Amino acid sequence: MLVINTVNELVKTAAALRGEGKTIGLVPTMGALHEGHLSLIRRAREENDVVFVSIFVNPVQFNNPDDLRKYPRTLDSDVQLIGDLADYVFAPSVEEVFPTPPTEEYHYGPVEEVMEGAARPGHFNGVGVIVGRLLKWTNPHKAYFGEKDYQQIAVIRQLVRICDIQSEIVPCPIVREPNGLAMSSRNRLLTPEQFELAANIHRILEASKQQPDVPQIKAFVESEIGKIDAFKLDYFEIADDLTLQTVNSLADAQGVMGFITVYVGEVRLIDNIRYK
Ligand code: PAF
Repeated sequence: MLVINTVNELVKTAAALRGEGKTIGLVPTMGALHEGHLSLIRRAREENDVVFVSIFVNPVQFNNPDDLRKYPRTLDSDVQLIGDLADYVFAPSVEEVFPTPPTEEYHYGPVEEVMEGAARPGHFNGVGVIVGRLLKWTNPHKAYFGEKDYQQIAVIRQLVRICDIQSEIVPCPIVREPNGLAMSSRNRLLTPEQFELAANIHRILEASKQQPDVPQIKAFVESEIGKIDAFKLDYFEIADDLTLQTVNSLADAQGVMGFITVYVGEVRLIDNIRYK
């Protein structure tokens, strides 16, 4: 595996490989890699001739400076962990990606206006800025994203439509810790006690499947989360899995999912579950 630090080298390398008829898979990450990321990289490896992984803590998608400051940065161990699973790691500096402040403005429509989009103003524009650039520079046949960030995938699907990017967006299932907690780079910020407590998020969502319909599911989840002192619920929404607009009944859409964001102490964790 080779580490690339410049956009110029990334563009040249990817274009040359395309020219040789190779298929390219891209796994965009912000580093602090865990088994969830590795599952994306393995999938990319299976489905493409060449795999690029990007590692870049993208400042423009953080709406909270403290969150950006605390975000774990572990480039050396990330590169070690990837080893030969990927062919190239793109690990640029902030100045390399943003020699001047970005000016892209994306309007993705209703999928961005709810949940993370509403809770974190500017977040999805920042995601679009970096993912749009990575897709244009690498021009992969396929790009891989984890379903923990389910709304992010919906937004990126809109992005590729808006920008007429031909890459296929491949959603990949959530990978969980043995205790059920969805894997996330932010889990490293939890104390061992918070890590165990955080497993209740998935447990409560699973248990909520026993409830008959949306009002009862909402009441159940809100009340169960409220029973744990270390938790602060940011939102729990039950929504159509395509439009991401909230539903009042499970009968209102073909696919229905629950989306939750909980602060465990200072750490903001997200997860989701499918009801139908
Ligand atoms: O999901 C993430 O880790 C980030 O939002 C992404 C897609 C790598 C863009 O910075």
